[in-house]
Amino acid sequence: MCKEQWLFDSVLWLLPVITLITGIITLFYFLGTKNYNYWTKHGVFSNTPRWPFLGNLRISDLPKSNRDLIKGIYDSFEGRGCGGFYFLTKPVLVVRDPDLIVSILVSDFTHFSSRGFHSNEQHDPLSKNLIHLDGPPWKQVRPKMTAAFGINKLRTMISDMDNFAAKTLEQMSKHSNINAEDLSDKFMIDVVSSCLFGINSEAIENPESAFYEVAKQIFDGYHFLVHVFVGYMFPAVHTLARMTVARSQVTHFFKKVTNENLHLRKSEGFSQRKDFFQTLVSMKETQEICKEDNGGSKVCDEDFIAANLFMFFSAGFDSSGKIGAFIIYELAANKEMQTTLRDEVLRVLEKYDDKMSFEALQEMTYLEKIVAEANRKYPILMVIFRKCEKAYRLPDGGLIEPGINVMIPSSAIHYDPKFYPDPEKFDPERFSEENKSQRHQGSYLPFGIGPRICPAWQFAILELKVFVARIVSKYELDLHPSTATPMRLHPRNFLLSPESDIIVNLTKV
Ligand code: HEM
Ligand SMILES: *[C@@H]1O[C@H](CO)[C@@H](O)[C@H](O)[C@H]1NC(C)=O
Ligand SMILES: *[C@@H]1O[C@H](CO)[C@@H](O)[C@H](O)[C@H]1NC(C)=O
Repeated sequence: MCKEQWLFDSVLWLLPVITLITGIITLFYFLGTKNYNYWTKHGVFSNTPRWPFLGNLRISDLPKSNRDLIKGIYDSFEGRGCGGFYFLTKPVLVVRDPDLIVSILVSDFTHFSSRGFHSNEQHDPLSKNLIHLDGPPWKQVRPKMTAAFGINKLRTMISDMDNFAAKTLEQMSKHSNINAEDLSDKFMIDVVSSCLFGINSEAIENPESAFYEVAKQIFDGYHFLVHVFVGYMFPAVHTLARMTVARSQVTHFFKKVTNENLHLRKSEGFSQRKDFFQTLVSMKETQEICKEDNGGSKVCDEDFIAANLFMFFSAGFDSSGKIGAFIIYELAANKEMQTTLRDEVLRVLEKYDDKMSFEALQEMTYLEKIVAEANRKYPILMVIFRKCEKAYRLPDGGLIEPGINVMIPSSAIHYDPKFYPDPEKFDPERFSEENKSQRHQGSYLPFGIGPRICPAWQFAILELKVFVARIVSKYELDLHPSTATPMRLHPRNFLLSPESDIIVNLTKV
């Protein structure tokens, strides 16, 4: 009796839930079938959608890693320059042909200047950052921001980077093995904070560094991935749910740091430093316009500074932190390569009296090749995203309308044996001068190409070189038995990441 009563209650309770779920599925079904005619109507070859709502994704695709999913989509258009794909209900153009990639990213960039990420300006103080800006506001602010990454500015940062390398070595001397990602992240956090913002984040030396703690919260779990995914797929839901780029404690942290740094600079008289933070401050002072929409234009305010401090910090430490760890892994796994690199680094450093400089780094050509190959084998941002702004005619006659999203599957291209024979192999010789000069521009995309290329790509390469050169000059690296070989990649992270810790034994040389 008692049991039946319970059953009855729970069925009653379930009824509205079941109705709601059925309603949502039906809604998506209709939304979906409407979109599913898009590619045929526009004369673009497409994969036929399999299921309502799922589009071209199959149930059996869902457990796959992000990278394998991207590869599957890429392979399904084998023999074609591009194709239409239904990412759930959204029609997305997937581009394979390197010539067409160069057209979209470089020569016909004006049609595709947006990325298509969504953010809630009204409710999210961190929304106005360069990665999320599109259209005219992006065009306004981008050139001003990139000025802080000119090659002459970068030269002056090398001694600062090298100071943090020295601190890293000092920490290493206290241990017989290290966690490569941890070590690399901490170095990159301190370098980005100091070189771009003039902030001492103390990640290397202080185990309780607030910046390190907050850095872990940014990409831990799925907050950022869910924000990007929902914003990309269902902007209306994203707005309704008031989703934000970062968790509230992270938002709060960056607002606070911005405010403190502004006060500090005001007391210094503003003119002392010429770094990226100062660029942001000048944009606020001169009331630069950074957003134009139906609500009128808005000028850069303190939130604009916080948003970009946040985004450059996040984009800055995580990508290069992971590449640094991948390089340490490859060096520990390939001892011969490690010895060749060490010989080169020691030879060049001796010539320059152990002083790290732009010139010294330029003479380390093997190091250059290793960093380039690491960016090939580990394309951190697995896809380059674009959104069509102006109608575009494809070479084969198909038409891309404004609003359509474009995906350039860089990770699949980096593993296509047509461009990179034996792609799983780590082979720096792929980047010999001769091989490099024969490579198609559209087949090497770790930083993107064209006007929306990673603004800090040269900065990233420099900090990686300083980090790796100093470490191999002092330590012999061996894989600890607990490190998985071959390495397994994390299936779901937004950025390409190792699945488990990379632990490396250290022996002084
Ligand atoms: C190895 C390290 C890095 C890799 C592999 C990397 C990769 C990328 C890629 C693929 C893009 C997208 C480009 C496109 O859409 O065409 C990008 C954009 C961006 N990156 Fe990086 N990046 C790295 C380091 C950094 C660093 C150190 C910073 C900042 C200090 C940074 C800040 C940004 C920003 C702000 C954007 C957005 C640019 C825009 O939309 O105009 N990145 N990065
Ligand atoms: C070019 O790259 C291949 C590997 O892809 C390598 O075997 C070959 O030695 C390289 N050629 C040169 C001239 O470095
Ligand atoms: C690394 O260190 C561990 C113990 O700390 C040891 O068991 C292992 O043999 C070392 N591996 C190499 C390749 O040196």
